Amino acid sequence: MLKKHERLEKNSILMLIFVVIVISIGGIVEILPLFRMETTIEPVKGVRPYTPLELAGQNVYIREGCYNCHSQQIRPLRDEVERYGHYSLAAESMYDHPFQWGSKRTGPDLARVGGKYSDDWHVQHMIKPQQVVPESIMPPYAHLAHKGAKLRGIAEDMRALQMVGVPYTDEMIANAYNDAMAQAQDESDHHDDLMERYSKANIRNFDGQPTTTELDALIAYLQVLGTMAELKDYVHDGSARSQEEAGQ
Ligand code: HEC
Repeated sequence: MLKKHERLEKNSILMLIFVVIVISIGGIVEILPLFRMETTIEPVKGVRPYTPLELAGQNVYIREGCYNCHSQQIRPLRDEVERYGHYSLAAESMYDHPFQWGSKRTGPDLARVGGKYSDDWHVQHMIKPQQVVPESIMPPYAHLAHKGAKLRGIAEDMRALQMVGVPYTDEMIANAYNDAMAQAQDESDHHDDLMERYSKANIRNFDGQPTTTELDALIAYLQVLGTMAELKDYVHDGSARSQEEAGQ
């Protein structure tokens, strides 16, 4: 055995081949399980795909480059959890394509901004941030209030997301436009269907204007961030209780 090993140690090419084999085995063992998403992301109750209107809002968020100043990932560190709330769970961004974790915080993390402020606060803040936060350096986005939300093509976006594994059903895609319009209206016959398709969807006129604008879509998106997961199943010391245990 030792003799054979000596041969291996003295022949650099042979050594190299064996090194590559050993590293490949290690690599495969580490990487292969990650290709099966269900083994890497623990399912969390309540997390659902975005409604068509929220998705249109995410499109605005990406187009306007909000991720350049805002992250959407609360790290499991004490100061972050105290400031922003429960640290982000992998499942909470599993339907984000592309993910919006961001890499820079000029402004605060937005992963749990949903429900933190009223719609009216968001309207004021997006039109002119300094109206509500005088020292803010965030730029104004007043133009969003004058532009109709792009909802005609939202079904195609959903179809593309369906292809990469977001569980949109064909029924959801077929009703995308109507669902999107109904979500931003206070009155509509369509509300029950919408609620059935997307649990706990916020339905209201977000920006207070009669038309459905990009601002409606953006606020619908901001107001749902971090609110889907049922976090009561998780405890704050960093360990997740199993679903069965939590149910007892
Ligand atoms: C140049 C950097 C910058 C950009 C770009 C930017 N923001 Fe901000 N944002 C900030 C800063 C700084 C604050 C903190 C002061 C304030 O509340 O205005 C902030 C605060 C916020 C808040 C309040 C967060 C909280 O918890 O108080 C929201 C919501 C928000 N931004 C949304 C957005 C959205 C949506 C976009 C894109 C349309 C955007 N921001 C683009 C810098 C930015």
